[in-house]
Amino acid sequence: MTEAYNNLTICLEQIRRKTNIIPELAIVFGSGLNKYSEYIDIECTIDYQDLNNFPVTTNEMHKGRFIFGYVHQKPIVAMDGRIHYYEGYTMEQVVMPIRLMKMLGAKTLILSNAVGGIRKDLNVGDFMIINDHISSLVPSPLIGENIYELGTRFPDMSHVYNKELNDIIKQCAKELNIEIKEGVYLQTTGPNYETPAEIRAYQTLGADAVGMSTACEAMTAVHCGFKVCGISCITNKASGMSDEPLSDEDVAIAAAKSSDNFCKLIKSLIKSI
Ligand code: HPA
Repeated sequence: MTEAYNNLTICLEQIRRKTNIIPELAIVFGSGLNKYSEYIDIECTIDYQDLNNFPVTTNEMHKGRFIFGYVHQKPIVAMDGRIHYYEGYTMEQVVMPIRLMKMLGAKTLILSNAVGGIRKDLNVGDFMIINDHISSLVPSPLIGENIYELGTRFPDMSHVYNKELNDIIKQCAKELNIEIKEGVYLQTTGPNYETPAEIRAYQTLGADAVGMSTACEAMTAVHCGFKVCGISCITNKASGMSDEPLSDEDVAIAAAKSSDNFCKLIKSLIKSI
């Protein structure tokens, strides 16, 4: 057994001492999008800092706890605050919560995030279904000794984002009259925002939106057998696409403004899965 897996089993035991919930669904809330936690019938919360060797969020916008509860009677686990590579953790640490949620029993993972829109038609406040990603600018979270208990050494990444789930998201958005776009997400390490030249380069590479979190989580989730989908909230035009300088305050304000529609969409998605 690898050290990483051994540590995960210790965290699992710690959680099992507090809750018996076997979640069907796992959700990761992006920056400013965690209003949804108010809609969960919460059974218990567990702070990351109470788990063995677990990374703790250092970003004030992220709380750093698991929420266990029910939505439409469905058992779920949600990450209220995610771990970012730019906080100084190794990629293996960054993706620990994803693996732990799988070990708890979750089968479907809903990822959400705040992103900068690169494609011209992506405006502040829009939602984008992630239909593929570019992760080549960050280290793979699967580097190192493989955890065979969770997945194979060389996992296929041809269909990271589940088409059926994406169709359900589209249907939910249509019923709610929420416009939703689709595109390719590119992950950078952060914490700095990009230069305009970098954004032009990413555009050439085929990226529609840019963020600092999600592709490594999605890859890990595919490795351990999750069905994955991702919804991005466009919180700003990417660097050089508007005259506005980029700031985390503005990102948070834009995400908060989209939070109501985001919550409606997630609620409807959970009901439909
Ligand atoms: N770049 C990177 N990450 C982000 C951005 C951006 O423009 N907006 C929100 N997260």
